[in-house]
Amino acid sequence: MRIVAYFALDKNSKTTSKMKTFTKALMIMFAMLMCSCADKSNDAIAQTTLPQKMYITIDGVSQPATLYNNAATQALIAKLEEGPVTVTLNSSGGFEIWGALGFSLPTSNEQITTQPGDVILYNGSNICLMYGTNSWSYTRLGHIDDLNDSELRSFLKAGESNIEVTLSLQPVSPQPTSNTLVIYYSYTNHCHEIAQSLIEQIDADVLRIYPKDKNQQYEANGYAIGMQLLNTINANPNSADSYPEIDPVSVSLDDYDTFFIVTPLWWSQMAAILQTYLFNHGAEFAGKKVGLIVSSHSSGISGVVADAERLIPNADWMGEALWINNANHGNRATLIQNWLSDINYSDISTIIKDINADNHSGLSGIYNLNGQKLTTIPSNGIYIENGVKKIATKK
Ligand SMILES: Cc1cc2nc3c(=O)[nH]c(=O)nc-3n(C[C@H](O)[C@H](O)[C@H](O)COP(=O)(O)O)c2cc1C
Repeated sequence: MRIVAYFALDKNSKTTSKMKTFTKALMIMFAMLMCSCADKSNDAIAQTTLPQKMYITIDGVSQPATLYNNAATQALIAKLEEGPVTVTLNSSGGFEIWGALGFSLPTSNEQITTQPGDVILYNGSNICLMYGTNSWSYTRLGHIDDLNDSELRSFLKAGESNIEVTLSLQPVSPQPTSNTLVIYYSYTNHCHEIAQSLIEQIDADVLRIYPKDKNQQYEANGYAIGMQLLNTINANPNSADSYPEIDPVSVSLDDYDTFFIVTPLWWSQMAAILQTYLFNHGAEFAGKKVGLIVSSHSSGISGVVADAERLIPNADWMGEALWINNANHGNRATLIQNWLSDINYSDISTIIKDINADNHSGLSGIYNLNGQKLTTIPSNGIYIENGVKKIATKK
C-alpha cells in the first residue's frame, strides 16, 4: 500500500526524468527490502517451533512431530504432561485421518492449505493428521518429522478407519493388554486381513512390521525385488547386514508368553521384511508359545516354516502352521477358528488366565473360567474381569 501511494506522488511531481528513474530505482529497492522483510517475518512465524517434540504412536511405531509455538500447543503439552492421550481417528477426504481429541484447545484459526505431515487442530477439539492437502480454516499444531508421502500414508494407515493413535511427550511402549501378541507384515493386505480375523477371535495385542523403504514395489519386474532381498539373506543369513531395514519397534516381547506370527510367502520363503524382525528378536521367543500363519497365492509353505524355525530356534511351536492361500482367503475366519481349536489355543490361554486370575490388572475384558471372552458380565457365577476373579450372584 505504501509503495502504491509513493508512485502516485511521483506521478504528480515535477521531477526530471533522471530523477524519476532514480526515484523508481529507489522504490524498487525499497519494495525488494519490504518483500524480504515480509518473507523473514513469515519465516519467523513458521519457524517458531518448540524444542519439545510430540510423539504419535500407531501400531507400536512412534514418530516424532515438531510442534509450533502457540496457545494450542502449549495447552496440548500441559495435557500430555499428565500422560499420553489415545484417540480413535478415521480416514476422510483422501487427505487426512481425523477425530475428536476428547478435550478442547485454544484456537488461532487461519486459512491454511495443509501439506502432508501437518498436524492440525480443527474446530478446537479435533485433531487431523494430514497425508494430503486441504484448504480450510485451521489452527496449526505441528508437523510429523522426516516421512515422505508414501511413508506417511503407510504410518497413518491412510484409507482405514478406527485407527488408534496415541499422542505423548515420549515415545511409548504400548501397554500390553493381553498375554498374546500377534506380529505380522503385509504388503498387499492379505496378512493384515488375516491378523484382523485372528484378533477378532482371541484376546491379543497386535504389532505390524513396516519396511524402512516404503517405496519398493516388490512385485515389479516379475517379483524381482522380493527375490533380490531373499537372495541377499540366503547368501549370508547370520549377518544383520543381509536383512532389509525395518521401522523401529518399541514393543517389549517380555510382556507376552504367546505369539502368533502372520507372514506372506515370497518365492516359497518367509517375506524378507518379517525375517528382519525375527532375526533381531528371535532369541526373545525362547521357550514361548508361537503359532505361525502363512499366506501365499498358491505355493506350499514348508520353506516358510523352515525360515521360522531358523529365525526362532527355541520357540515352543503351537502345532502345525496354518496355510491360507488365495483360493481360501475368503474363508479365513473359519480356517483360523478350526486351527485355534486344533492347536488347543483356548486351553493354553485358559491355563494362562487362570494362573494370572487373582491379580493381573493388565488383562482387559471379561472371561468365563474356560477362558472364553464374554461381551457382558454374567448374571450369576464366577468370571474374570480385567484379570481379577469376581463372583456375580442373583439378588
Ligand atoms: C515378492 C513376492 C513373491 C511372491 N512369491 C510367491 C510364490 O512364490 N508363491 C505364491 O504362491 N505366492 C507368492 N507371492 C504372493 C503372496 O504370497 C500372496 O499374495 C500373499 O497373500 C501376500 O500377502 P500380503 O497381501 O499380506 O502381502 C509373492 C508375493 C510377492 C510380493
